[in-house]
Amino acid sequence: MLSVKYTANGKLKLIIKKGDRTDMKILVTGAAGFIGSNFVFHMLEAHPDYDIVGLDALTYAGNLETLAPVIDEPHFKFVKADITDAATIDQLFAEEKFDIVVNFAAESHVDRSIEDPGLFLRTNILGTQVLMDASLKYGVKRFHQVGTDEVYGDLPLDRPDLFFVETMPLTASSPYSASKASADLLAMAYHRTFGLPVTISRCSNNYGPYQFPEKLIPLMIANATADKPLPVYGEGLNVRDWLYVEDHCRAIDLVIHDGRVGEVYNIGGHNEKANIEVVKIILEQLGKPESLITYVTDRKGHDQRYAIDPTKIHNELGWLPETKFEDGIRKTIQWYIDNEDWWKNIISGEYQQYYEKMYGNR
Ligand code: NAD
Ligand code: TYD
Repeated sequence: MLSVKYTANGKLKLIIKKGDRTDMKILVTGAAGFIGSNFVFHMLEAHPDYDIVGLDALTYAGNLETLAPVIDEPHFKFVKADITDAATIDQLFAEEKFDIVVNFAAESHVDRSIEDPGLFLRTNILGTQVLMDASLKYGVKRFHQVGTDEVYGDLPLDRPDLFFVETMPLTASSPYSASKASADLLAMAYHRTFGLPVTISRCSNNYGPYQFPEKLIPLMIANATADKPLPVYGEGLNVRDWLYVEDHCRAIDLVIHDGRVGEVYNIGGHNEKANIEVVKIILEQLGKPESLITYVTDRKGHDQRYAIDPTKIHNELGWLPETKFEDGIRKTIQWYIDNEDWWKNIISGEYQQYYEKMYGNR
């Protein structure tokens, strides 16, 4: 059997393995969210023989319209379900007999986790447990937990020589990152105790098409487009390590196929920027004045700096990011300009109440 893979430098690699399957069935949870949907698009293109089942509870962050480009694809199926609903998940696994599970489903916004920690614990920890129980029961060959670099806590701004490595202890700052750290620990415990074939990836901040407009980059694009104030927390000096979403998706594809079971892989492209720098780049590209920048009360417990050391995934799996920030941000801004309906629909609904609550008196 023959399969074609793209290596980190973009070259084609032909792999011929006798008896190798090309018709895997993969469950992608959180498929109607930002990274999950991009991963579905990537997988359908990179592995046209695979069957992809996209599952999502369609919370405020999940949007079925996002999956419109693939909803009629013969190798794609959408299932609306909640990962904390053990009976439904069990039935789905019994029927579908998944080879691989990739768990993106989560409550993902730090600011919301400060308002309602309980929801984050239920979805991000208990939901992961439900998926792992079903994976064990039905003999899933790989359970991949999509993690975040926020589980390492943060790094000081005055130590640019320090980076997150996989062996660091987990020290989460927000209820969001604590829930993600718990899920990672639980996944490793299921590997060691029950032998579940687990891998974990921990990625830095993503940006790109279909990101919900509560997150920094799409929020600033949406506000700048409407000539509304751009709310920068604190002094805007906190640093994030930005990665274009497609690069993240390619990395996970590599880890689920070639990553070693029981291992954690950091994903990031050495692209650190202070928030204020990112905001100014967006304003410049949209031709809007810096006078729109409004400094607002800082986030509670605000992490200073995130910075990934991606040496392990590069050395073991040959992964490297392909999209430079200047290209990625240009493509992203253009996508939001071209797809105004997608995000205007979102911000015209209940999001307005969220915005008023978070930013109204800040
Ligand atoms: P997102 O909020 O855009 O998407 C999350 C999706 O999960 C939504 O579609 C939502 O409807 C769904 N969901 C929530 N609760 C669910 C439940 N109980 N059952 C089923 N589906 C449910 O988030 P995202 O930015 O796409 O993040 C995806 C994953 O990647 C998360 O696990 C997040 O922690 C991780 N991650 C994100 C980033 C980033 O920068 N966005 C970076 C590193 C890791
Ligand atoms: P965010 O996109 O929420 O990602 P995370 O907190 O998970 O890194 O925020 C990115 C950075 O931008 C973070 O330092 C907080 C800051 N920020 C603002 O300054 N203003 C905003 O309105 C938002 C949403 C974020």
